Amino acid sequence: MFYLLYIIKNFGRKAMFKIIFYLVIIAIIVISGASAYHLYQVKEKNKTEMANFENETPLNADLGNVLVIYYSWTGHTKEIAEQIAALTNAKTYEIKTVKEYSSPSVYMESKKELMSKNYPELEKGFKPNIADYDTIFVGGPVWWYTMAPALFSFLKKTDFKGARVVPFSTQGSNYGKFFEDFAANAQNADVLPSENFNNLAPEYNAQVKNKIITWLNKLSR
Ligand SMILES: Cc1cc2nc3c(=O)[nH]c(=O)nc-3n(C[C@H](O)[C@H](O)[C@H](O)COP(=O)(O)O)c2cc1C
Repeated sequence: MFYLLYIIKNFGRKAMFKIIFYLVIIAIIVISGASAYHLYQVKEKNKTEMANFENETPLNADLGNVLVIYYSWTGHTKEIAEQIAALTNAKTYEIKTVKEYSSPSVYMESKKELMSKNYPELEKGFKPNIADYDTIFVGGPVWWYTMAPALFSFLKKTDFKGARVVPFSTQGSNYGKFFEDFAANAQNADVLPSENFNNLAPEYNAQVKNKIITWLNKLSR
């Protein structure tokens, strides 16, 4: 502020606007450069990780009767959930909120819900009987480095009664405290090893399938 007043006094308003204009341009260049570099790093990390799943992997997991529960706002988690279900011959159950989120307000709305712990109401209707299943997968998107609020809503009203529960997430690149928060909120669950999936281009479909199978094989009863 002091510098701006100094500039106005000594060089006039025109000079001040010129300086502000250049500062804004510099800020835009720095922010764009940083986000391009971040995207590049994520791409390279994905490439390295998925190179571990090049080989076709046979499925040899005994998971018993399986249920896959998921919440998905834009479809990524649904895709993974459906792959798990297809591989394990499982039923699926989609968690749905009564209200509909829309973009871009979803960012502020969900941030508020997470901070206030005022989670959204879920649609009622058919509810699976947890006791009917030997292994229950529960997945959803990472929002603000934790579970999307709908998952908190679901866990708050679910008693897993000692069932084997397997959490999974999908995310851009950083799942943050998703699994920590899941374990802390999954009531009476025997929480098994989780897996997380970055959003990837279709060219990685085969590797993603191998990654899922590698994980399923570790979950045998
Ligand atoms: C409100 C909001 C917050 C998000 N926060 C994160 C985040 O903290 N970390 C991350 O890697 N991705 C984040 N994402 C990206 C989603 O986790 C990612 O796109 C996910 O795969 C979406 O799953 P869905 O298509 O099943 O809804 C966020 C997306 C939204 C809409």
